[in-house]
Amino acid sequence: MQQPRKLYVKSFGCQMNVYDSQRMADTLAREGFTETQDPADADLVILNTCHIREKAAEKVYSELGRLRKAKQEAGSDTMIAVAGCVAQAEGAEIMRRAPVVDLVVGPQSYHRLPELLRAAGTGARVVDTEFPVEDKFDHLAAPSRAATRARGPAAFLTVQEGCDKFCTFCVVPYTRGAEVSRPAAKILAEAERLVGQGVRELILIGQNVNAYHGDGPDGRPWSLARLMEALARIEGLARLRYTTSHPRDMGADLIAAHRDLPQLMPYLHLPVQSGSDKVLELMNRGHSRGTYLDLVRDLRAVRPDLALSSDFIVGFPGETDADFEATLDLVREVGFAGAYAFKYSPRPGTPAAGHGSQAPEDVKSARLAALQKLLEASKVAFDTSLKGRTLEILLEKSGRHEGQMIGRSPYLQSVVVTNPPAAIGDLLAVTITEVGPNSLAGRVPALASSRPLAAMEA
Ligand code: SAH
Ligand code: SF4
Ligand code: F3S
Repeated sequence: MQQPRKLYVKSFGCQMNVYDSQRMADTLAREGFTETQDPADADLVILNTCHIREKAAEKVYSELGRLRKAKQEAGSDTMIAVAGCVAQAEGAEIMRRAPVVDLVVGPQSYHRLPELLRAAGTGARVVDTEFPVEDKFDHLAAPSRAATRARGPAAFLTVQEGCDKFCTFCVVPYTRGAEVSRPAAKILAEAERLVGQGVRELILIGQNVNAYHGDGPDGRPWSLARLMEALARIEGLARLRYTTSHPRDMGADLIAAHRDLPQLMPYLHLPVQSGSDKVLELMNRGHSRGTYLDLVRDLRAVRPDLALSSDFIVGFPGETDADFEATLDLVREVGFAGAYAFKYSPRPGTPAAGHGSQAPEDVKSARLAALQKLLEASKVAFDTSLKGRTLEILLEKSGRHEGQMIGRSPYLQSVVVTNPPAAIGDLLAVTITEVGPNSLAGRVPALASSRPLAAMEA
């Protein structure tokens, strides 16, 4: 019998890191680790890091500084591991800058954690940033029923990892490696297991999720649309989402899936980055403003209630005022329900970082503020349009106040309801009564048209 040990995992960056952190915790559960929310209480701390922008990458060093101090003060021998995209991109640098780190592990080596920890436990400082030949998904442990229940009724499931697109600003193709799709049968098995444990909503994730082309059980490659068609047949699975998509891979069958699959939520995150053709070309995006707008039109034609969100970069090298205006103009034209906007951050080793005409910081700041203001207005307009409408929400957790529960709308908004006649894991129809900056409030319609389905089993 192993000694019980405590694990603290902190995730930065995207949803793939959240999923990976869960799978690391599941795998270490087999080694006798239970999770704690308090780093001071942990025998092992894992920082699962993000390298996408400079600020994100630097966070790991400030976090390590805090951990070093806490460790010294407590005189503890907590082991410290750095995982994720910073680990992959600058493993040796981490070891040099942060002597407190015992182990660096890249995203493709998580299944090796138990043996790497044993090696680090002997006092050696260990770095594993290989891209191994074996499939890590075959070796990572599945979550226990208790772990799945604790994570709630909506679960992430990685179907594709890595990227071959090489946008000129982006580190992901270097940190996550080449695009790989998991075989459909393995995804279906993982989905069935999760649904059997009470999951009602699956969020299929991948850096380029709609480029999915995994081997199908029929020996042919399956598209994401084909995969979702099979997933939609799993009894008890109420909702499907997928993220993040690239405009280049929105095939006709995927667009049709938005019409044909009732489980597929009418909300799509489709990053466009810029509204200027010149900038899109410099970014090597492989799509134009026009092809993006065509896609939006085609998607809305098959699913009129579809809402869109997006990502934008401002101050990309070479972006002029006119290019930036074209971005604002695209935002007005599409009317996004939400979006993220970022200042361009030059990343080591990416082509755009070496571009001669980097935008000054004040230009980036001014453009970011203008874009964010417009995006916020667009979001508020969308949220406000839902007032008085009845939406189905998936109840996810208890709220802050007595009797309150929080659910998710089809559009990923948090919706607060008081004393709903339902439990976590239920779908419930609610009428939206209030629209706040971070959440909506709703009530169950008087003529109880709520449809509580089976709760997550005890
Ligand atoms: N795979 C996704 C997004 C990956 S990163 C896609 O292809 O769209 C998430 C977002 O971070 C990107 O959409 C982009 O808007 C932003 N981003 C990526 N690299 C960046 C950089 N160097 N500077 C600023 N923002 C960046
Ligand atoms: Fe990065 Fe572009 Fe790949 Fe998205 S598609 S992960 S932005 S290189
Ligand atoms: Fe960040 Fe890596 Fe995700 S760089 S956004 S954690 S793929």
